Amino acid sequence: MLQSQYEIVVLICTLVSFIRTGIGGRTSTYIRSEWPSSDMPLHNDVFAVPKGHNAPQQVHITQGDYDGKAVIISWVTPNGVGSSQVLYGTLDQKNGFSAQGTVTNYTFYNYSSGFIHHCLIDGLEYGTKYYYKIGEDKAAREFWFVTPPKIDPDAPYTFGIIGDLGQTYNSFSTLEHYMQSGGQTVLFLGDLSYADRYEHNNIGIRWDSWGRFIERSAAYQPWIWSAGNHEIEYMPHIGEDFPFKSYLHRFHTPYMASNSSNPLWYAVRRASAHIIVLSSYSSFVKYSPQWMWLREELKRVNRSETPWLIVVMHVPLYNSDQVHYMEGEGMRAVFESWFVQSKADFIFAGHVHAYERSYRISNIYYNVSTGDRYPVPDKSAPVYLTVGDGGNQEGLAGRFWDPQPEYSAFREASYGHSTLEIKNRTHAFYHWNRNDDGKKVPTDDVIFHNQYWASNLRRRRLKKNHSKVEGE
Ligand SMILES: *[C@@H]1O[C@H](CO)[C@@H](O)[C@H](O)[C@H]1NC(C)=O
Ligand SMILES: *[C@@H]1O[C@H](CO)[C@@H](O)[C@H](O)[C@H]1NC(C)=O
Ligand SMILES: *[C@@H]1O[C@H](CO)[C@@H](O)[C@H](O)[C@H]1NC(C)=O
Ligand SMILES: *[C@@H]1O[C@H](CO)[C@@H](O)[C@H](O)[C@H]1NC(C)=O
Ligand SMILES: *[C@@H]1O[C@H](CO)[C@@H](O)[C@H](O)[C@H]1NC(C)=O
Ligand SMILES: *[C@@H]1O[C@H](CO)[C@@H](O)[C@H](O)[C@H]1NC(C)=O
Ligand SMILES: *[C@@H]1O[C@H](CO)[C@@H](O)[C@H](O)[C@H]1NC(C)=O
Ligand SMILES: [Fe+2]
Repeated sequence: MLQSQYEIVVLICTLVSFIRTGIGGRTSTYIRSEWPSSDMPLHNDVFAVPKGHNAPQQVHITQGDYDGKAVIISWVTPNGVGSSQVLYGTLDQKNGFSAQGTVTNYTFYNYSSGFIHHCLIDGLEYGTKYYYKIGEDKAAREFWFVTPPKIDPDAPYTFGIIGDLGQTYNSFSTLEHYMQSGGQTVLFLGDLSYADRYEHNNIGIRWDSWGRFIERSAAYQPWIWSAGNHEIEYMPHIGEDFPFKSYLHRFHTPYMASNSSNPLWYAVRRASAHIIVLSSYSSFVKYSPQWMWLREELKRVNRSETPWLIVVMHVPLYNSDQVHYMEGEGMRAVFESWFVQSKADFIFAGHVHAYERSYRISNIYYNVSTGDRYPVPDKSAPVYLTVGDGGNQEGLAGRFWDPQPEYSAFREASYGHSTLEIKNRTHAFYHWNRNDDGKKVPTDDVIFHNQYWASNLRRRRLKKNHSKVEGE
């Protein structure tokens, strides 16, 4: 079984290598070796249950407010409610402060969750290392995190970008490489655990194992969550018809801080970036809550404070893989013109299990009466990046459309993750890192210029009005 899976992958990769490169873009012909796309067994060390009676497990943190001075700390106690208290402080004042969280539990078919704690700690100082302690007595555990710098247009900051992670050996490789990359916060592109590929109580059990797997990173730095199709878990045949049930119980987001009415879409500002998270699987048509919220949120973006405008969603709007092809058309038709008008820098998505980067293009003149439509080069348009190659059970999506569409700049079906190193208001270094035989190999490296501060028009106008221009 595994052997034949491997052979299919090799065959697909070989086929891909014959595909003619399109007009502008590049289709990588790299043939990778990979681990089998099977989940690590539950007895694997990466899923180890921490020692001690009812010890907190599945610890993860996320930003807790709009501007980065708060953190939501979440964890699970498996054998009893235990305490929802967090003790925290700086090195000088360890455990100097305490905050009280909330606890919840849920059932899913015949699975009963442990006790899921969420605790907001706020009023933190910027750019500071905090230690935090959760759990009781001998089973207490201590972790730490570093708050981001104050919101500032030139604050450097490095984001990691991971999508469709799952819990296979490839997922492990991706996470290990990410942790060596110097990333300070993860933008997660949806499809977390792939627990929905299991049945009955194993669905819940695989959510728990995934929580323990990512703890090595997610307990120490925020993961900014977006939801994918594998979070929906709409399973009426087993009596589970409340979408996103497991996800919403386990992963909180600071949605109220951006005046969102729903945890599935929201925004946060961090260092020099304004990050907008959208839900591909919630209504986005005109006048829907998500549409109304995004319209308002885009007005709140202030590029003098946060020059980098980053949008995160699950389903890509531009992608030339045959898998999930054009699934993002609905959202593209509704939101693309806003992204162009607001000069968004990046639209990150997952879903397709391969890597792809677009040129700056737009297709916003579609006329349903005449059928006129075509993506055209557009300097105001964002770059679309698909990083759905975290490494889950479903394997790679290695068949791209040939010839490569003109909008596609680079594509390769390998597992990996990306990093976005924001340097200042004008420059960001971007790398896609392929997992390659146990090494992290930077494969697609691009220097991005900010769409607001570095566009030529803006630069000229600024030059005329002010003699001194940053970034020149
Ligand atoms: C939550 O846990 C309590 C205590 O074990 C239990 O009585 C209750 O039924 C659980 N609730 C859900 C929704 O699972
Ligand atoms: C859950 O249900 C499945 C199938 O109905 C059964 O095989 C399994 O033993 C049950 N597990 C628990 C914990 O009840
Ligand atoms: C959210 O709405 C409230 C009330 O309308 C307003 O005071 C607050 O500034 C808004 N928050 C943001 C982030 O815009
Ligand atoms: C944007 O931020 C700058 C710097 O904080 C501030 O001076 C300006 O008034 C803000 N613009 C808007 C429209 O709020
Ligand atoms: C679409 O095309 C029709 C027919 O040419 C034209 O009347 C209409 O104004 C166009 N609509 C838009 C939004 O461009
Ligand atoms: C530059 O100055 C002109 C004339 O005073 C003004 O119309 C324009 O809006 C200014 N542009 C910027 C970017 O401040
Ligand atoms: C911004 O960062 C780039 C890349 O490190 C550098 O070349 C440029 O000089 C920086 N600009 C300013 C104003 O520091
Ligand atoms: Fe997906």
